[in-house]
Amino acid sequence: MMNIPPINLKAQYKVVKKEIMAGIKEILDEQRLILGKYCTQLEQQISSYAGVPHAVSCANGTDALILALMAVGIGKDDEVITTPYTFFSTASSVALVGAKPVFVDIDTKSMNIDPALIEKAITPRTKAITVVHLFGKLCEMDRICALGKKYNISIIEDSAQSLGSRKNGRMSGSFGDISATSFYPTKNLGGIGEGGMVLTKRDDLGEKLKKLRVHGMGNQYYHEMIGLNSRLDEIKACALAMKFPHLESWNRKRIETGNYYNNKFHDLPIILPVIEDDSSHIFHHYVIRTSERDRLQNFLKERGIITGVYYPLPLHLQPCFDYLGYRKGDFPIAEESALTSLALPVYPELKKKEKEYIVKTMREFFTG
Ligand SMILES: Cc1ncc(COP(=O)(O)O)c(C=O)c1O
Repeated sequence: MMNIPPINLKAQYKVVKKEIMAGIKEILDEQRLILGKYCTQLEQQISSYAGVPHAVSCANGTDALILALMAVGIGKDDEVITTPYTFFSTASSVALVGAKPVFVDIDTKSMNIDPALIEKAITPRTKAITVVHLFGKLCEMDRICALGKKYNISIIEDSAQSLGSRKNGRMSGSFGDISATSFYPTKNLGGIGEGGMVLTKRDDLGEKLKKLRVHGMGNQYYHEMIGLNSRLDEIKACALAMKFPHLESWNRKRIETGNYYNNKFHDLPIILPVIEDDSSHIFHHYVIRTSERDRLQNFLKERGIITGVYYPLPLHLQPCFDYLGYRKGDFPIAEESALTSLALPVYPELKKKEKEYIVKTMREFFTG
């Protein structure tokens, strides 16, 4: 029996250990601990990679979302349309700036927000749409951006799981007005602690973000607005800057594994992730759906394969969002996905033998 964890951060660290340790030593020797050259380097790397002129690093992806909402001016009495099938922060960030999250269901194929349902949810109070490129799969940005234009609503991309996915050469994070990403250790570009970044093509928002992450401060100790204290430490920025050159090849390996699984599983009674082309899904997670999810998860676990459930309870049914007044049955596709989704290991360090074992074990479950 093999033992396959859901992610293997130790294997990834080995590849970059030398550079990271040298960088950390330099930072500590110099005592240049906050907003130094590695922050600038990382911001430049991500800005040119994503093709977006302004990249502002911050403390984590949740803060990145909050900063993005603050930058576009979302606050009390505003509504922000988003998906109920995502990580908590996509919606908690809206509530934390005093606005109201308004959910619409997801599309059954992509598991991303269904653009056909957005328009009906728009009211005079709608100020933004936060879309999530869930599991690394790009949303239908043409349709969503067209809605933004038509109704004069800001488009915020939650790119926490999708740094590097693209369509016709356009990168995740470059479609909307502003986007937020996360460098949480398990992300495709994962750091040695918390980390995040906000990207924007708009000069006005870029300027504002730089102030918002340091208490809304322009000149020292003069506050033009009320901002956060949300900076990325140099040590963490350095580790990310050292890992960044590997991101493209790590993503490519995830895509290869996604394709491999899809080919091997095509005849099994499960719903597979949709791969439209070779770049619009970077498989932060490889998620299949089956009504036998819990039994399958146990079967794989007993055979050493650890899987994940993203996400077991959609956001409209979370106790903390009771006050929004949603009920079970409001978003059937999100609710069904929560019961049927299972993420198989897809990290770049996964070995050929391990992938074969996963395929063999999956087939064993369904075909005996
Ligand atoms: C879709 C999504 N949005 C936001 C976040 C928040 O990022 P962080 O954990 O860095 O705050 C995450 C990751 O955790 C995420 O997966």
